Amino acid sequence: SAEELDARIVAAKRTLGDRVVVLGHFYQREEVIAHADYVGDSFQLANAAKAHPEAEAIVFCGVHFMAETADLLSGPDQAVILPNLAAGCSMADMADIDQVEEAWEQLAEIYGDMDAVDAEGLVPVIPVTYMNSSAAIKGFVGRHGGIVCTSSNARTVLEWAFERGRRVLFFPDQHLGRNTAKAMGVPLAQMPMWNPRKPLGGNDVQALEDSRVILWHGFCSVHRRFSVDQIAKARADYPGVRVIVHPECPMDVVDAADESGSTDYIRKAIEAATEPTVFAIGTEVNLVQRLAAEHPQHTIFCLDPVVCPCSTMYRIHPGYMAWVLEGLVEGRVLNRITVPGDVAEPARVALERMLAAKP
Ligand code: 13P
Ligand code: SF4
Repeated sequence: SAEELDARIVAAKRTLGDRVVVLGHFYQREEVIAHADYVGDSFQLANAAKAHPEAEAIVFCGVHFMAETADLLSGPDQAVILPNLAAGCSMADMADIDQVEEAWEQLAEIYGDMDAVDAEGLVPVIPVTYMNSSAAIKGFVGRHGGIVCTSSNARTVLEWAFERGRRVLFFPDQHLGRNTAKAMGVPLAQMPMWNPRKPLGGNDVQALEDSRVILWHGFCSVHRRFSVDQIAKARADYPGVRVIVHPECPMDVVDAADESGSTDYIRKAIEAATEPTVFAIGTEVNLVQRLAAEHPQHTIFCLDPVVCPCSTMYRIHPGYMAWVLEGLVEGRVLNRITVPGDVAEPARVALERMLAAKP
């Protein structure tokens, strides 16, 4: 039963003490969050993974790319554990390393030597990857002078990239790339989308030449469900409603909202509201429902009336947590996530660039 699982997790954590730290992403279900030592967005959890050298193991309640990142940033003797190995991310899977390597080679046919610095000190392209990508992609980015971003620092990171390159190749999330670049004043005409299924000739070479940001075709299946119609309905039902959406939402949705920002931005915006307020939120429903429960003085609801959890985040079940924690008690490290050294080294470079890039 749920109570038994709870009791097993509590008992295992008590036995392990400081030897384990449990990290939980905002989108995790309540029964998991209840046992997390740290709860946060992907940027905060990356920092949290660095900040606990005393722990032998980090149990990461989130998805695979986050656990890989935690492995990259934690110590070599620390084990990062993903309670259910099937907790992936469909967006991260949309940028395949072979396709990215191929795109890079084809772009070099247009731009020439990708390492050549022009009169203004800029290389032709800086690759930027969203945190929501495999370690292999982060490694690619690290090897080519690029950087990682999250939804909470995408603008800072793009500014970093434009100080070093004429343009950016941004993957996997077209929406975060487009929304961020648009907010920085980049015209849509200078944001062509790369189609990895077409050879170079099938992509618009002129658009690529004139580009500032080349977008990859990925998207988040949860955030693409939000629509302008949902926002119109919220405004009709609740005049004065504050609409805040995640930048993984399509551009028309971000434009129709009052604000957009990362999961932590959304949380802080609600916490800062002093007057009772109606909030319509465009992000994953577990977080929205938790915020609603934590702030009874406000009316907080998810823009999508059909409950839409992230199905892969949801694969972290308390049963798996109990299993991996009890494994640690017995000296067994189950479901360890390890990034191989040849990938880890450049991927860490790309991540450290992000952690050092200040707004
Ligand atoms: P943040 O935690 O950066 O807001 O990202 C949301 C998300 O989609 C995580 O997978
Ligand atoms: Fe991936 Fe979207 Fe789920 Fe985040 S919410 S883990 S981007 S599928």
